Amino acid sequence: MTDRLVLQVGPLKPSLAQTLKDDYAAYVLPDEDAAREEFLASHGGEIRAIVTSGRTGADAALMAALPNLGAIVNFGVGYDTIDVDAAAARGVGVSNTPDVLNDCVADTAVGLMIDTLRHFSASDRYVRAGRWPVDGSYPLTRQVSSTRVGIIGLGRIGSAIAKRLSAFGCTISYHNRHEVEGSPYTYVGSPVELAAAVDVLIVSAAGGAGTEQLVSSDVLDALGSGGYLINVARGSVVDEQALVSALADGRLAGAGLDVFADEPDVPTALLSMDNVVLLPHVGSGTVETRAAMEELTLRNLAGFLESGQLVTPVTMPVNTSS
Ligand code: 8YV
Repeated sequence: MTDRLVLQVGPLKPSLAQTLKDDYAAYVLPDEDAAREEFLASHGGEIRAIVTSGRTGADAALMAALPNLGAIVNFGVGYDTIDVDAAAARGVGVSNTPDVLNDCVADTAVGLMIDTLRHFSASDRYVRAGRWPVDGSYPLTRQVSSTRVGIIGLGRIGSAIAKRLSAFGCTISYHNRHEVEGSPYTYVGSPVELAAAVDVLIVSAAGGAGTEQLVSSDVLDALGSGGYLINVARGSVVDEQALVSALADGRLAGAGLDVFADEPDVPTALLSMDNVVLLPHVGSGTVETRAAMEELTLRNLAGFLESGQLVTPVTMPVNTSS
């Protein structure tokens, strides 16, 4: 039996989990507390690499139970569920899957925006419910082309969204921690100012402590009763309670959400709102993109185990010897 150096933490794409099992004889961390403790006590010292996803991540306590851990390989670009500071303090490298999902997440943002403004999902429900012949034409909706769009987080995904919406004749402005040098889009110094200047606010910023509830009730108020919020980033970036209240009171025109604060739970109040489009975190969820993410995840794992190097590091491993 070869050394068993890899630990799967949380559910993964089935084909990825299968490869980890077949090629690395990977362990799977038990869910249940007692079984997990027993596993970590017996096998924690063997583990050199974790493979996880944004759904589960890895906290400092788990890292502490794996004294020879060298790398945390994340399936997904967002690594907000990994305690990167704790990893860095231990010399543990972290990798993610950037770039390969930009197109699909940007497609999702644009699709959500169109659906939200034009009520396609709601119109579909209208037809299916047999209302067209009874109630007549569906009420008029909001034009997408030529709207003023504000992007919170003009990174790789935000830029792909901006590029697409430029082709729709939209005016693009954005807010980031820092102005993006050479960007053709207008930089705005705060989320409130950005929201006040646009019709549609799209959230594509990374999750985590630095962006927690960046889209606050003040930002939603600035967006106003004619404004729409689209979120393809993380639920944590938006004050979800404030969002629900604003929608319920008619202080916001609509929202398109692929992500939520407490997935898979979606606030019940949203379920009956026809001006809200709800997706179950499917931004990167195509056969092509998930295959590319899987391939990059496996390249990071192999890179670390074979040469101590991660292909797409968030932080580089220091602890590379077994
Ligand atoms: C995935 C994502 O759904 O990459 C991310 O950060 O949110 C999505 O692409 C997720 O990582 C899979 O768990």
